[in-house]
Amino acid sequence: MFMKKTGLIYSFNSPRSARLAKKIQDELGKDNIDMINAEDITEEKFLSYDNLILGVPTWFDGELPNYWDEFVPALEDMNLKGKTIAIFGAGDQKGYPENFVDGIGIMADLLSERGARIIGETSAEGYSFENSKAFRNGKFIGLALDLDNHSKLIDDKIKDWAGQLKKDFK
Ligand SMILES: Cc1cc2nc3c(=O)[nH]c(=O)nc-3n(C[C@H](O)[C@H](O)[C@H](O)COP(=O)(O)O)c2cc1C
Repeated sequence: MFMKKTGLIYSFNSPRSARLAKKIQDELGKDNIDMINAEDITEEKFLSYDNLILGVPTWFDGELPNYWDEFVPALEDMNLKGKTIAIFGAGDQKGYPENFVDGIGIMADLLSERGARIIGETSAEGYSFENSKAFRNGKFIGLALDLDNHSKLIDDKIKDWAGQLKKDFK
């Protein structure tokens, strides 16, 4: 398997996202993945990778966390043609059934509208929620991880997703 150097951007200050990011890095191989703090991401750094994995949990009833929200104006000015991007995100389907992992969907739209190819869609089987901006044509557009209600499934879901990314990243 050959994989171009991939940037994995997530908040170093969110213990949950950080734990998930490290599991993903372990599955894909430490040498293939650069770990980058979303809280001090720059346009230059973001654009220096053709392959990206973004950690985007949902906060505030269906919104992006502050650190991603602050980067949205920069994203809106980007041309992302040629970029391949996968998104994972934590959410809580019981606590927030109307907005389950919305952040994944919000980020996917921002990126695909600017030319990025989004990979890493996953089955929504076994989840229970009312609405999700990440739910498209019967699937999630990224990897939805529910640490509050599905903690036992996390490792297998990450393993499967990493296998999928290895095939879909160029
Ligand atoms: C105030 C608050 C609002 C939240 N809103 C949502 C939401 O709208 N949708 C969702 O799926 N999860 C929501 N969550 C759950 C978080 O996404 C979940 O706890 C996640 O594990 C946080 O990951 P992080 O600590 O890495 O940021 C919310 C949590 C809090 C505390």
